[in-house]
Amino acid sequence: MQHLLTLLAGASLATAGVLNAPSRIIKRDSWGGSVSLGPSKSTIVNAVTTLIPGTAPSTQNGELFLWPGMSNGTGDLIQTTLESWPDNSWCGATTGQWCVRASVFGGFGQLDGTASPVSGSDKVRIEYNLESDDTTWVQTVTNADTGAALSSYSIDAGPYMTGYGTGTECDDSCTGTIAAQQYLNTVITLASADTTFGDTIASASGATYTGLSSSQGGKVWTISTINVPAM
Ligand SMILES: *[C@@H]1O[C@H](CO)[C@@H](O)[C@H](O)[C@H]1NC(C)=O
Repeated sequence: MQHLLTLLAGASLATAGVLNAPSRIIKRDSWGGSVSLGPSKSTIVNAVTTLIPGTAPSTQNGELFLWPGMSNGTGDLIQTTLESWPDNSWCGATTGQWCVRASVFGGFGQLDGTASPVSGSDKVRIEYNLESDDTTWVQTVTNADTGAALSSYSIDAGPYMTGYGTGTECDDSCTGTIAAQQYLNTVITLASADTTFGDTIASASGATYTGLSSSQGGKVWTISTINVPAM
């Protein structure tokens, strides 16, 4: 079975120029723990999770990214990213905070929404929704407790999303995560039932999950918690 992270990493070959904010670097050193699902027999139409990122490293040597990602392996990678750079003041973050922004990675490079700072204990709700035109993906990032908007991005990325997974990505000799990450109540909704989607779940590098279940005959898949240990 093809592991989603392999798909996602393989898609990440381009560099991107982004105005007034750091852009992604191609040198990927290592990955932290992950949990992923896919490919599905049907296609994903909605995916929502709430990430508690844990405290960001107080100093950063490279770049460190936390993200739930969604792709079909060859198309765009929808990935709202929590980011730790040597200087994270570009989004207003202070020591120990992350910058979060909705983002998409594809052949064009990286495109991002506006960024906001988040603290380690913040609950960051990240929703990916396929609009009624059946091709536009809207990322909506909010504080799950307050409802405050943190970032958003909309792009035509096609209706064929089949994989979803978490990534803890360390680039350019990064300072790794110093705290665990937790993803709460991850819900992936498919266009039509796929009773075997749950069988595709895979975890790597110490990540664990609890409460994998489905409803509506295999159309809606829920993972109660995903726990990713510190690096
Ligand atoms: C992935 O999605 C893109 C964009 O919709 C599409 O062009 C491509 O054929 C898809 N690839 C697979 C393997 O389904």
